[in-house]
Amino acid sequence: MTTTPSARTFPASFVWGAATASYQIEGAVDEDGRGPSIWDTFAATPGKTLDGHSGAVAADHYHRTAEDIAIMKDLGLDAYRFSLAWPRIQPTGSGAFNQAGLDFYARLIDDLLEAGIDPVVTMYHWDLPQPLEDAGGWPARDTALRFGEYGRKVVETYGDRVKVWTTLNEPWCSSYLGYGSGVHAPGRTSDADALAAVHHLNLGHGLAGRAVREILGEGATLSLTLNLHVARPDDPTSAEDRDAARKIDALANRAFLNPVLDGYYPEDLLADTSAITDWSFVQDGDLEITHTGLDVLGVNFYSTQRVRRYTFEHEKTMADGHGASAATAWPGADDVEFLVQPGPYTAMGWNIDPSGMTELLVGLSKTYPELPLMITENGAAFDDVVSEDGRVHDVDRVSYVHRHLDAVGEAMEAGADVRGYFVWSLMDNYEWAYGYHRRFGIIRIDYDTLERIWKDSAYWYRELLRTDALPPVESAADLA
Ligand code: FCB
Repeated sequence: MTTTPSARTFPASFVWGAATASYQIEGAVDEDGRGPSIWDTFAATPGKTLDGHSGAVAADHYHRTAEDIAIMKDLGLDAYRFSLAWPRIQPTGSGAFNQAGLDFYARLIDDLLEAGIDPVVTMYHWDLPQPLEDAGGWPARDTALRFGEYGRKVVETYGDRVKVWTTLNEPWCSSYLGYGSGVHAPGRTSDADALAAVHHLNLGHGLAGRAVREILGEGATLSLTLNLHVARPDDPTSAEDRDAARKIDALANRAFLNPVLDGYYPEDLLADTSAITDWSFVQDGDLEITHTGLDVLGVNFYSTQRVRRYTFEHEKTMADGHGASAATAWPGADDVEFLVQPGPYTAMGWNIDPSGMTELLVGLSKTYPELPLMITENGAAFDDVVSEDGRVHDVDRVSYVHRHLDAVGEAMEAGADVRGYFVWSLMDNYEWAYGYHRRFGIIRIDYDTLERIWKDSAYWYRELLRTDALPPVESAADLA
C-alpha cells in the first residue's frame, strides 16, 4: 500500500458525487412495462457473460430507491449520476412511452432533490431497446433518430428539475465493444459496423443535445461522457510507436471529441480506416448536428495503455484492458500492439497509474481551454472480503481513489478546469460481461440478502466530503 502524505484540499464549489447505471443496479427487468434491452438478450446467450450472470435482479435498486437515497444523503453527496433505462421509458425504442417507467424516474428525481442531491442524468448507458437492435442497432442511422426522439421526451419530462444532461456514456464501448470485438451487447463483430456505430452515436448525441438546448436553453448543462484513452508510445523516440499512439488516439478520442467539439472527423482517422469504410454514412449536415459543443465534458478514467507498432513477427499482445480481440476492437489498427504494463493492477487486471489522469486532464485543458471537465467515473474493483469485525477493509480501493484524486488536484494546479468527481460506483453492481464477479462499490451489496454494507471506502469518502480534504488512507479503517 502506498500513501500520499499530502492532505490535498478541494474548492468548496467542487461537486462530489457517486455514479451508477440503470442496467447495472436496477433489476426488475420485467416489471411495470419495461421492454427487453440488448443486455437482457446478450446475458441470456450462453457464453457471453461470466457464469451467465444477468441484470435481472442486480442490486434491486428499483425496489430500494428510498434506502439507497438515504445512503447517499448520509454520505453527503452533492450529486448522483445515474442513467435512465430507455426500454423502461419507451419499451420498443420508438412510438409509445411507458408512463410507469417515466414515473419511476420522476419519483427518483423528486426524492433526490428532496434529499438535497442534484440529479445528473445520463440518457443512455448501454441498455438499447432490443427492437432497435433487431432493426439494425447503432450501425443503422434510424437508431440515432429514435434516440433523438427519446432524448427530447425525457428532457420535456424532467427538464424542469434536471439541469445536467449527459447524452451518452462511453460511446467508445457501445461501438467498438458492442459491434467490433463483440465482448459487450449486442455482441456483433464487424469493423465496418463499429465505425458506422461511432458516427450514429455521435449523431444521436447531437440530436438529443439539440433537444436539451432548444427546450432548456441557457439554464441547462449539456454533457457527454467519454472514456478517453491515454495510450503512450512504448518508445517515445520511435516514429513507429508514436504513430501507433496516434492511431489509437484517433479511434478512441478524436473520433468523438472532434465531431462534437469541432464539427469534423479527423483526416487521419478516415485514412487509417479507408479499407474498411468510406464513411459515406456521414450525410450532408450531420456534422452540424454532432457539433453541439459541450458545457462540460464527462471524463471516465481507470487506467492507461502502452502501444507500439506491431510487425506481425510474433504473437500479438493485446493488453488494452478491454478483453477485446486483436482483429476487431481497433478497426484499421491491426499493426498496433498493446503491451502489458507494470502493476499494480486492480481485480479487472487494469494497471493503476494515476499519472495518466493528470496527463489526460492537462492535455484536454490545453486542447480545449474553455471546456470545463468533470470526472464522471473513477474507481476500482478489488476482491473485497467481509472481516470478522463485520467491516470491509477495502484499503486498496481507498488508496486508489486517494491517489487519483491527488492526480486530479495536480491537474487543477496545472490549470485544468475540473468541476467535480463521481466515484464509480455508489454500490457493487452488475459489471457487464464480468457479471457479479467484480465489485466496484463503496457500498457492498450482499447478493444473497441484498443488504447494503458500508465499506471503509464509504466512510472515508464521507469524511472527504465533510472536509473537502483527502483524509489519510490509514484513517479509513477507524472511521465510522
Ligand atoms: C465503465 C462503465 C461503467 C462501469 C465501469 C467499471 O466503462 O461506464 O458502467 O462498468 O467502466
